[in-house]
Amino acid sequence: MLDDLKANNRAWADRMVAHDPEFFKRLERQQGPQYLWIGCSDSRVPANEIVDLAPGELFVHRNVANLAPPQDANYLSVLQFAVDVLKVRHVIVVGHYGCGGIAAAVDGRRRGLIDHWLHPIREVAEDHREELSAIADLHKRNDRLCELNVMRQVHNVSSDVFVLDAWARGQPLSVHGWVYSLATGLVNDLNVTVRAPRA
Ligand code: CO
Repeated sequence: MLDDLKANNRAWADRMVAHDPEFFKRLERQQGPQYLWIGCSDSRVPANEIVDLAPGELFVHRNVANLAPPQDANYLSVLQFAVDVLKVRHVIVVGHYGCGGIAAAVDGRRRGLIDHWLHPIREVAEDHREELSAIADLHKRNDRLCELNVMRQVHNVSSDVFVLDAWARGQPLSVHGWVYSLATGLVNDLNVTVRAPRA
């Protein structure tokens, strides 16, 4: 099976060079992405493909259920590099409907370490218990929790000191919240964009 992947890789690289002989040479010198994507690890939500961007155009961080936990060194390192060094213009938190991480966070089953990772989602669910409990259908309820989770992560990113410091020095930066639909391939902009510190 891995031989298939290597053959795929050779064919892909050949196609890229056939289309643009300087493509890899240019990228080797420098990456200049305008966007940081914070998305779910789910294999059905491939960042570059969804927004049709080429290598070099999207800086990507993915984890289970697209979290931006303020104490997670991995996420924070990505965020700092994206904001301070790459100077991306947009951070996009992208959830997806039907997220297994969201469902697992609130189904009451014990799985181990992942239960701890998903803890912030249970906090979001707790904060919105009234709204969520009014949604009878489990899938619809979890899809709403997907949206609420994205909004919380947008809040986390936009209140992070790296982002606040970028705004303080006049760097243009927006933080957006989207939810992707596996059913249609389309993103739903939650219209929760933050472009400046909260007053
Ligand atoms: Co997911």
